[in-house]
Amino acid sequence: MTLGVVILAAGKGTRMRSALPKVLHPLAGRPLLRHVLDAAGAVGATRVCVVYGHGGEQVPRALADADCAWVEQAERLGTGHAVQQALPAMAEVDRVLVLYGDVPLIEAETLNRLIADSSDTALGLLTMTIADPAGYGRIVRDGGGHVLRIVEHKDASDAERAITEVNTGIIVADRARLADWLGRVDNNNVQREYYLTDVIGLAAAEGVDVVTAQPETPEEVAGVNDRIQLAELERCHQRRTAECLMRRGTTIMDPARIDVRGRLDCERDVTLDVNLVCEGEVNIGTGARIGPNCVLKDCDIGAGAEVLAHCIIEGARVAAGARIGPYARLRPGADIGRHCHIGNFVEVKQAHIAEGSKVNHLSYIGDAEIGSGVNVGAGTITCNYDGAYKHLTRIGDGAFIGSNTALVAPVAVGAGATIGAGSVISMDAPAEQLTVSRARQVTIQGWERPRKK
Ligand code: UD1
Ligand code: CA
Repeated sequence: MTLGVVILAAGKGTRMRSALPKVLHPLAGRPLLRHVLDAAGAVGATRVCVVYGHGGEQVPRALADADCAWVEQAERLGTGHAVQQALPAMAEVDRVLVLYGDVPLIEAETLNRLIADSSDTALGLLTMTIADPAGYGRIVRDGGGHVLRIVEHKDASDAERAITEVNTGIIVADRARLADWLGRVDNNNVQREYYLTDVIGLAAAEGVDVVTAQPETPEEVAGVNDRIQLAELERCHQRRTAECLMRRGTTIMDPARIDVRGRLDCERDVTLDVNLVCEGEVNIGTGARIGPNCVLKDCDIGAGAEVLAHCIIEGARVAAGARIGPYARLRPGADIGRHCHIGNFVEVKQAHIAEGSKVNHLSYIGDAEIGSGVNVGAGTITCNYDGAYKHLTRIGDGAFIGSNTALVAPVAVGAGATIGAGSVISMDAPAEQLTVSRARQVTIQGWERPRKK
């Protein structure tokens, strides 16, 4: 049994009031449609076809790497018409599952249940029962509970409108029979549309036992029509991610104040304080603590490390037991060794700092190789850029760099060297010696301040 997935994404998305097509709006940092494509992958689809809207070329362009066929539905003639456009791309599959590009939180588990429950019949339907069914298609059943048809809200009688079991829109059907039913659907209804939902009546009339399944939660089948709904689903998704982390042993100070836009992997007993934003791939080791208001992007934080409040760490590695911040910025290529301290208002880029070294205040360390046990005084700057090229600064183990030193790269400071505060170091400083390049201090005897006459 092979499965194809058709994703409907031709909606105009008017209520988003956006130049960006609706299905490209991000949820957890990725386009809505990407979440649905992932769900299609997770149920083992052998073919995926996305039906996108007229003029929406942006959509296939934005997701050009997706393994799917793209079909344009130039005129939006209804959900049935939309599915029909995708059928040629489904020629090789046995069954077709219909999903929606603006329904991003659908779970593979639910879809697998629908697919399994309906495996012996030609049509399966995901439905739910809700208190306020207004707007939805209603599931009409006979006295024995068998599904007879779906009636759209706009076409329904008062009695039908009282039905609280509604159509989520998600169906799975035998491909050949679906093609036959769709060929017979007309647009004889209030909206003058070819309804996908009309195939249910056609199937039931042929004696098909229409099997239904339900999602675990209503969020799974909630669609995005405007930015308010988008924000609601974002919170649902983030809540799910937070719960998943907590179940696996992470303490989250407030699960309503964390945003994971990518993959966050935490070992046990990690503590995440409020307002953390994670992007890309982030790994955090056992017992590490992340303070409030941090941004972590594509980085590794070692076991027991402490990232204090207001740090931005991107493309960097922080080894076990290091302490970062508050207010530190680690940029790509920052590689902070074990038990190092990187303090407030320190920026580190493309630099390796070995075990136990400290850069505690107000410094820029860029393009540098710093040994272990080095103390970099407040206000020290690596002058790594000459206006055309970047150059390397090397500092040996145990060196002590006095405050407010400018290290004019390329330059090397030997192991155990001491640099006097306020120096501009433009030539290599030898190991174990004191090097100081500031002007000698003088006191002018008898000098007097000018005075107003
Ligand atoms: C549809 C169902 C309804 C169900 C509801 C759940 C039909 C006729 N009705 O109603 O039973 O309760 O979803 O939300 O299917 N689309 C296209 N091309 C089209 C028309 C629609 O791609 O020509 C896409 C839209 O982008 C949208 C989805 O299909 O994502 C649903 O279409 P819409 O017209 O909004 O259907 P509903 O009125 O919500
Ligand atoms: Ca809709």
